[in-house]
Amino acid sequence: MDIVLSGIRSTGKLHLGNYYGALRNFIRMQEKNKCYFFIADIHSLTTHPDPKMLHENVKNVLVDYLAAGIDPEKSVIYVQSDLHETAELYLYLNMHVGIGELMRTASFKDKARQQLHIDRMNTEEGDVEREIFNENNKNSVNSGLLTYPVLMAADILIHNADKVPVGKDQEQHLEMTRRFARRFNYFYGVEYFKEPVAYNFGEELVKIPGLDGSGKMGKSEGNAIYLSDSPKEIEKKVKKALTDAGPTEPDSVKPDYIENLFTILRVVSSPEVVQYYDEQWNSCAIRYGELKKQLAEDIIKVTAPIRERILDIEKDDAYLRKVTLEGAEKARESARKTINAVREIVGFKPF
Ligand code: TYM
Repeated sequence: MDIVLSGIRSTGKLHLGNYYGALRNFIRMQEKNKCYFFIADIHSLTTHPDPKMLHENVKNVLVDYLAAGIDPEKSVIYVQSDLHETAELYLYLNMHVGIGELMRTASFKDKARQQLHIDRMNTEEGDVEREIFNENNKNSVNSGLLTYPVLMAADILIHNADKVPVGKDQEQHLEMTRRFARRFNYFYGVEYFKEPVAYNFGEELVKIPGLDGSGKMGKSEGNAIYLSDSPKEIEKKVKKALTDAGPTEPDSVKPDYIENLFTILRVVSSPEVVQYYDEQWNSCAIRYGELKKQLAEDIIKVTAPIRERILDIEKDDAYLRKVTLEGAEKARESARKTINAVREIVGFKPF
């Protein structure tokens, strides 16, 4: 059996991007693999440290996991901060990671830019680096953000996972995990860590766009449809999506914001529906009102049953407590084995 591991940061409720990039595959994988799914609450501290909201946010993700169909009888579900072994492995891995390679990570540069409010488009790489090293900048970038990929590697390697179901935006982090695993093995002359891969059933990793015509759907981008949104909210959000006067030439290339609507349509609707709207587009007969109505309807078909379960599960604190306690215990069993072996490899010895 392959070992599967993945996690989602607890920075808010889960949206369609999380669902199609990650969560849906978690559920598909739990039948035939040994699965670990966790809530990345330590990672959330790199950008969203908020003691008042922290627990609520962890609860949101946990409830969404269970409501979407992760079964605690089949998979190990745990909270990252409950597994201290991950933090210990993170510390050892950090000794073999260069500051330069971390600074070149795309997600770091992105987040650093956001934090420093540097305009994304017109920024030279050197400017970002200079600002990061400027200690007088009150929004300075913390080293947790820089070492984010090392903590992520520790999450994965602590269970020596084979497959990691994630969306497209996590591809580089997985490459780094493989590099860190390889480097550790090489440095200590062992073949201990496996090299895990980003996984989507042999298909390209998924990127679900936002409804506002720009980039990916994200919690902080303000363009997300949440699994817990009511049908009314979903209809409203889809209605507001950016469109235009329609194509004037047959078979023209779709502009980004229209392509985005089709990308979502491709994941939520049947191939016949997609083909119908493609034909409508190609013959310049497309009516966006009709397309949006269909899109909202098909999104609701996916989210409504999940939302119903969310409303039930979120009331059951005793159940949530049981799931996380048992999950932490099972995760610890596997993590202890790894950390004991790693300590020996590194050279720690009792007197
Ligand atoms: P996070 O919370 O940013 O994203 C969680 C998962 O959702 C996917 N995702 C998307 N997929 C497609 N389209 C989108 N618009 C979209 N938005 C988000 C992400 O690819 C991810 O799979 N660093 C991870 C959390 C993490 C982790 C790990 C994952 C921490 N340690 C170890 C795997 C293994 C993250 O960014 O989560």
